[in-house]
Amino acid sequence: MRIGIIGAMDEEIALYLEAMTGTVSTEKAGIVYHEGEMEGTSVVLCKSGVGKVNAAVTTQMLIDQFKVDRIIFTGVAGAVHPDLNIGDIVVSTDCVQHDIDVTALGFAPGQIPYTEQWVWQADPALRELAIAAGKDLEDDVQVASGRILSGDQFVASREKVKWLREQFDAHCTEMEGAAVGQVCAMNGVPFVIVRSMSDKADGSAHVNFAEFTRLASQRSYAIVSRMLRAM
Ligand code: ADE
Repeated sequence: MRIGIIGAMDEEIALYLEAMTGTVSTEKAGIVYHEGEMEGTSVVLCKSGVGKVNAAVTTQMLIDQFKVDRIIFTGVAGAVHPDLNIGDIVVSTDCVQHDIDVTALGFAPGQIPYTEQWVWQADPALRELAIAAGKDLEDDVQVASGRILSGDQFVASREKVKWLREQFDAHCTEMEGAAVGQVCAMNGVPFVIVRSMSDKADGSAHVNFAEFTRLASQRSYAIVSRMLRAM
């Protein structure tokens, strides 16, 4: 079993890079892929860069060139569910691209036109593994399951959060997960997104993001490293 692990930013993959052994790095289309071993599991780690296009290209590359069997996205997100605090974890049940808007032609917000499939389901076994891994984190860390939204937008307003929550019944928002989900679904590759909250996607999001991205990245790493150990 070979696991592809994607993070969007340096902070999100730094701990994995330190933990990996036998690492061989290869660059393709401007992205560096690190093949090696972690927690007794064969992994291919990469930093996709921010946004859905980067995430989509990276995911397809992991599948075609690096022959991964499963993909886990690790990183930070803005909380949308009111019960979530900074540092809490969300394991994806499914994910949706919140910024696709063809409502003018009668499609639902988030719907990819002329298709019925636009909600990408995470793999139940990977979800279970992530939730089980969350059980031995510190007591004050909440590990929730829910919908993760993705869009090419850093969300930083309460009005937008309210809309995302009402429209999509979402737990959190980020900029890559649903692109990974779509590419994985198109290829029949199981995936899960594991995000820790760096901010609440509100007017303080830019300050909180700067302050808490490192902590949130550590939390996400704590879950994914335990998942790898249990595989
Ligand atoms: N990643 C972390 N916080 C985010 C936010 N508020 N919006 C989009 N992506 C994020």
